[in-house]
Amino acid sequence: KNSNECISYQKLVKTGKRSNVMINIAVLGYGTVGSGIVEVIKTNQETVNQKAGQEINIKYVLDLREFPGDPVEKILVHDFETILNDKEVDIVCEAMGGEHPAYDFAKQAILAGKSVCTSNKEVVEKHGAELLALAKEHNCNYMFEASVGGGIPIIRPLTHSLTPEKITSITGILNGTTNYILTKMEKEGSDFEEVLKQAQELGYAERNPEADVEGHDAGRKIAILSSLAFGKDVDFNDIYMEGITKISTQDFKYAKELGSTIKLFGMSKEENGKVYAMVAPFMVNQSNPLFAVSDVFNAILVHGNAVGDTMYYGKGAGKLATASAVVSDAIDCARHIGVHVAVQWSDEKLEIASVDGMARRFFVRTATTDKANIAKAFGKVDFIDANIKGETGFITETMTEADFKERAEKDGHIISRIRLY
Ligand code: HSE
Repeated sequence: KNSNECISYQKLVKTGKRSNVMINIAVLGYGTVGSGIVEVIKTNQETVNQKAGQEINIKYVLDLREFPGDPVEKILVHDFETILNDKEVDIVCEAMGGEHPAYDFAKQAILAGKSVCTSNKEVVEKHGAELLALAKEHNCNYMFEASVGGGIPIIRPLTHSLTPEKITSITGILNGTTNYILTKMEKEGSDFEEVLKQAQELGYAERNPEADVEGHDAGRKIAILSSLAFGKDVDFNDIYMEGITKISTQDFKYAKELGSTIKLFGMSKEENGKVYAMVAPFMVNQSNPLFAVSDVFNAILVHGNAVGDTMYYGKGAGKLATASAVVSDAIDCARHIGVHVAVQWSDEKLEIASVDGMARRFFVRTATTDKANIAKAFGKVDFIDANIKGETGFITETMTEADFKERAEKDGHIISRIRLY
């Protein structure tokens, strides 16, 4: 029954059956992002209303905690049913984080014909296709601009701007924590553990930093972007992920000799009918526009077959940046009450090809100075002198990952290898 509620909204307003013409929203979760959503709307209320074409009113904030003295005290509720059962709530902004109950609440809201906007990448990555299909069925919307790249517009360019394009590749610095760590390692010559500790003290890195430093956070984000770029469901578990824990100060010395730096990339690309997706550290030359993306900033390079390269840059995390993206979705939902805005992300699984078939050049450090042994394993290479004793650094010719593995075994002394972008 509820699916018709959205459609009839304009009619209800026109016929005076609806109490007002304002759009009511509910914010789920009053943590960093949730309180940011309230702050962005309050600070920019006039602009928000103008852009939405109607007054945007925060009717409820849901949180288990109490906030005595806080302006939201009067609209604070502890039970989601209050929001779900209120027919005047048009849009739900979910900023709770975690899979449950965030997913359950989003689903119930959509089934009731309410649009949902979220910053929750975990729910979007796992349930995006399903929630989009439900939103279509119930004439409302499911939007998730804030789930990748925080405040950077990247979802909307993929779903609404680059629509005539065949997207051939996406390459992004999708995690602020690791970009901050790598930038510090490069600039200060400090090692990974030391910089991680500093980042945790400054509140940039989580106390449990595994999801960031092992590349899983970037993995979820590239899964979402790839699902939108290729239109089918990319499973996070199919993505090859390598983090930054093994990157050393020595690696940066070689990078400097090459006029390069080391960045953690989440990337996917279509090549010869196959789609590849991976997260790994890459040697990036200064000629690449992603070279200059430092500290906590994120950037995403999207290549379309007609438009060529396009790039999106900004703050990938943070209270107001992320909240701003959620509010932009809320405004878009307010503009489309009763109308589902089509997004292509089917629940059909997208086969991700094994990275073994990807070809590129590799930077290698080997614990030998025996150049004949290196030539025997790798053939022609370009040596790099970073003045480090007892080892040799070099760049291979272009070869597949599978070929590289074989040759590395033959060499037998490999200390580390980093892919060249
Ligand atoms: N931990 C994430 C990052 C937060 O460092 O980028 C934003 O998703």
